[in-house]
Amino acid sequence: MSNFPVTKNPNSRISSVNWDKLGFGVYFSDHIFVSDYTNGAWDEGKIIPYGPMQLEPTNCTLHYGQTIFEGLKAFRTKDGINIFRPYNNARRLNKSALRVCIPPYDDKKLVEALKQLVALEYDWIPKERGQALYLRPLVFGTSNFLGVHPSSDYRLIVICSPVASYYAEGLSPVKILISSRYARAVRGGLGTAKTAANYAASLLAAQEAKELGFSQVLWLDAVSRRFIDEVGAMNIMFVIDDTLITPSLSEGTILEGVTRDAVLTLARDFGMKIEERPVTVEEIFDTHKSGKLQEIFGTGTAAVISPVGLLSYNNEKIVINDMKIGPFAQKFYDTITGIQYGELEDKHNWNVSIKM
Ligand code: COI
Repeated sequence: MSNFPVTKNPNSRISSVNWDKLGFGVYFSDHIFVSDYTNGAWDEGKIIPYGPMQLEPTNCTLHYGQTIFEGLKAFRTKDGINIFRPYNNARRLNKSALRVCIPPYDDKKLVEALKQLVALEYDWIPKERGQALYLRPLVFGTSNFLGVHPSSDYRLIVICSPVASYYAEGLSPVKILISSRYARAVRGGLGTAKTAANYAASLLAAQEAKELGFSQVLWLDAVSRRFIDEVGAMNIMFVIDDTLITPSLSEGTILEGVTRDAVLTLARDFGMKIEERPVTVEEIFDTHKSGKLQEIFGTGTAAVISPVGLLSYNNEKIVINDMKIGPFAQKFYDTITGIQYGELEDKHNWNVSIKM
């Protein structure tokens, strides 16, 4: 294990945590990992107490959004900790970095930092099934200026947050509005990068959808408004005629989800037929009419699997699988979480395990 210098937090806040009502991203652990990029190089990195940071009003990221992040989870197992697929997140962080002119961070070093941080924050890893320690690596420009150009200096931070399920609904199916008004990403834009702008682009649509009684928005492509992109902040999957279908990544508008990849890999293990290809709204409504549409679900780190129970498009509504959790969604959820908690065989070596 690496040995980044540690400054211990003298004022632990762990006693203020309500472990029965963790929510998502509400509590933050006592320590963060920090590394600064100045004069063209990342420093050694260190672990310090969680606390406020000083920013100048001209911090370039506040103005132009040169920032990227990741999300991954650490789980309490019977003899230690599993961090789920951290190398995938570290590599994706660098893909996002490239898109918004942020210098890359050594992926192995980031995983070492994650390991040391979660071991230090062991007491913050929740004990119940369905809960985890959510890890949030973040990189942003720290230079101060108002011209539109990349920052010279950057900061990488890793925050830890004990979490329960992302949606209040848990694994229960959610109601989704297909947005024909707003777009999340465009071809050639930022869609494949995990960068703040994509989430800013989603806020108004999600807020309006919530006012109409929906949990989230399903995004269509920004040009033809026919092709399905993502659902909320998650990748989307369909089971039609026993085939698992998901939009392909080739248009460059969809985030390369780690859970998306896990579901596709497991589907192959289960012997399912898989199609990664463009999917239109018409196809979904037509296959629903013909009775071939079995399930729809989102995939993401935060919720793992989020079944879609109802889709609304231009005032037409379809109910999927009677608003119930389908067998495919359940099986993917049970298998992924089983591997994460160390209960099922991890044959793809997804977990980075730490003995405690
Ligand atoms: C996910 O993990 O599914 C997300 O991207 C949601 C996160 C931004 C809170």
